[in-house]
Amino acid sequence: MKNNRMLPNTRMIQFRDIGDSKLGHLTPLEAEGDIPFPIRRVYYITRVPRDMTRGFHSHRQLEQVLICLHGSVKIRVKTPFEEQVVELSNPAEGLFIGHMVWREMFDFSDGAVLMVLASEHYSELDYIRCYDDYEVEAISYFQSKIEMRE
Ligand code: TYD
Repeated sequence: MKNNRMLPNTRMIQFRDIGDSKLGHLTPLEAEGDIPFPIRRVYYITRVPRDMTRGFHSHRQLEQVLICLHGSVKIRVKTPFEEQVVELSNPAEGLFIGHMVWREMFDFSDGAVLMVLASEHYSELDYIRCYDDYEVEAISYFQSKIEMRE
């Protein structure tokens, strides 16, 4: 997943991969450079059973970059109009998810480590967890974004 068209408010970011199979690999991440926002929070998701799907929410203001540090995981990103599945397995690339994109994480491989860099501290108020509420809010959000471009 590199140059394919992606959903609005999502994109893949390629990071530097310094080293090789002999030396090992190093990936540096600088806030407001590689990561397009000041990083205010980091969390990671580990030991997820194979048949578990997590997420099922969107954020109004939060921006995030998801990086799979070990193993692989699939991310379903969704707007009311379209959806896409991105597989993350390369620690030198990240999935940026911006405002009002619904996400679900599934198919975690054994030992998968999903790290998330976030633009804000944790706030439950920023979550939309009910898909019906999300649809109503997101339809008007994406329609006004399209109108602003016209
Ligand atoms: P949630 O964001 O719903 O996880 P996921 O989308 O991976 O299923 O968070 C799960 C729980 O963890 C929820 O009770 C809130 C809590 N939590 C924090 O306390 N701080 C955090 O930074 C995050 C991301 C979650």
